[in-house]
Amino acid sequence: MEKLVSLAKRRGFVFQSSEIYGGLGSVWDYGPLGVELKKNLIERWWRSVVQEREDIEGVESAILMHPKVWEASGHVSSFTDPLVDCRQCKKRFRADDERIKGKPGEESAQCPVCGSKGTLTAPRMFNLMFKTFIGPVEDATSQVFLRPETAQGSYVNFLNVMQASRQKIPFGIAQVGKAFRNEITPGNFIFRTREFEQMEMQYFVKPGEDEEWFEYWHEERMRWHYDLGINPDKLRYHPHGPAELAHYAKRAEDIQYQFPFGWQEYEGVHNRTDFDLSRHQEYSGKKLQYVDPATKDRFTPYVVETALGVGRLFLVVMADAYREEEVEGDTRVVLGLHPSIAPVKVGIFPLVKKDGMPELARNIYKELQRLFAVFYDDGGSIGRRYRRQDEAGTPFGVTVDGQSMTDDTVTVRDRDTLKQERVSVDQLATYLTERLRP
Ligand code: GAP
Repeated sequence: MEKLVSLAKRRGFVFQSSEIYGGLGSVWDYGPLGVELKKNLIERWWRSVVQEREDIEGVESAILMHPKVWEASGHVSSFTDPLVDCRQCKKRFRADDERIKGKPGEESAQCPVCGSKGTLTAPRMFNLMFKTFIGPVEDATSQVFLRPETAQGSYVNFLNVMQASRQKIPFGIAQVGKAFRNEITPGNFIFRTREFEQMEMQYFVKPGEDEEWFEYWHEERMRWHYDLGINPDKLRYHPHGPAELAHYAKRAEDIQYQFPFGWQEYEGVHNRTDFDLSRHQEYSGKKLQYVDPATKDRFTPYVVETALGVGRLFLVVMADAYREEEVEGDTRVVLGLHPSIAPVKVGIFPLVKKDGMPELARNIYKELQRLFAVFYDDGGSIGRRYRRQDEAGTPFGVTVDGQSMTDDTVTVRDRDTLKQERVSVDQLATYLTERLRP
């Protein structure tokens, strides 16, 4: 994990937020390579969940929503963690923090930071939503929340989307966007953060067909992760027991990855029943129902949700792709990312900075730039330049050498096999396009 974190910083994937000020707890920035990787992950998800389907529409709702949304959704009353404070050192912990010895609130309980005994308060519920104010007056009537999930923005737009798109049940609403949670025990790099992005899809179905659709989406989502090339041995389902189920869920199953710090969830598939639509109906007074055009049956749809964190998926693909190999007595660090998500697709290198090689390499760079994310590098030995692109996860390296100047061919190096093939310059774009297909 340490090596991955160090590579992420060194190569510009992830930086600590406000680093020059000492950082901000569990908030991270994405650097030049990171932002490309993240964008590619989102694009891949959007393409498969929205663009390649006739039954799913996209929305982008605002982060700030009417405060009643969060009363209706149950987040004001139930989105809480039990916390304890130490009266001595003023630190705050989750009540189930494994480092606490004894039962918080009792004399024998010991603070895990200052070691004082009997100073921990009894657990109190703490809401994880960030609060702010809308407008110039800062009082209870102007308080709003930063959304803790994108899902509610899709529910409150259920009627708008259905009417505008003329969709019939079953159909889905997908959304990608930021969410915020004031996590008390954040950590493990970008795994649990206070500001993060979600890719969520709410699938509205007829009550009674929810179990069937749950099975469908649960299979479909795992297949998506396999297609992305994630090692199947490191993927598993984790069904939620009654104690783990969120306040809205009838059934939930996580997709977990075996991170260096253990098996952890990175996507959830939830059967949310008609909980959310019914509650919004009750709190807004607006009917959020569907009338079956054939039978004229009127019902409040059930929802099967798929909820994936962009940052967690980012960490999964980085952890899964990271490898170290011995090559000719040297350690080669490679990010074996799926080509469709690699931040840079092709590195272009003149072997030396003379004899017309930089000029030809620049022309190739300009030509390929119209098709893919490419990177030109003429600094240092060719071996070092290959290594730099291996670490960035670049699938192909194109080298212009002496022979290129006589027969208009270049070498194409494959990141994974290390094999080099000679390809004529006029065939290069076709050669690479075929190999970079999603
Ligand atoms: N709308 C349902 C929902 O939000 P969730 O299981 O709380 O369900 C869904 O979150 C996904 O969002 C998680 O599987 C995870 O990938 C991501 N996620 C949740 N909290 C996160 C956090 N604090 N930091 C990073 N990602 C988080």
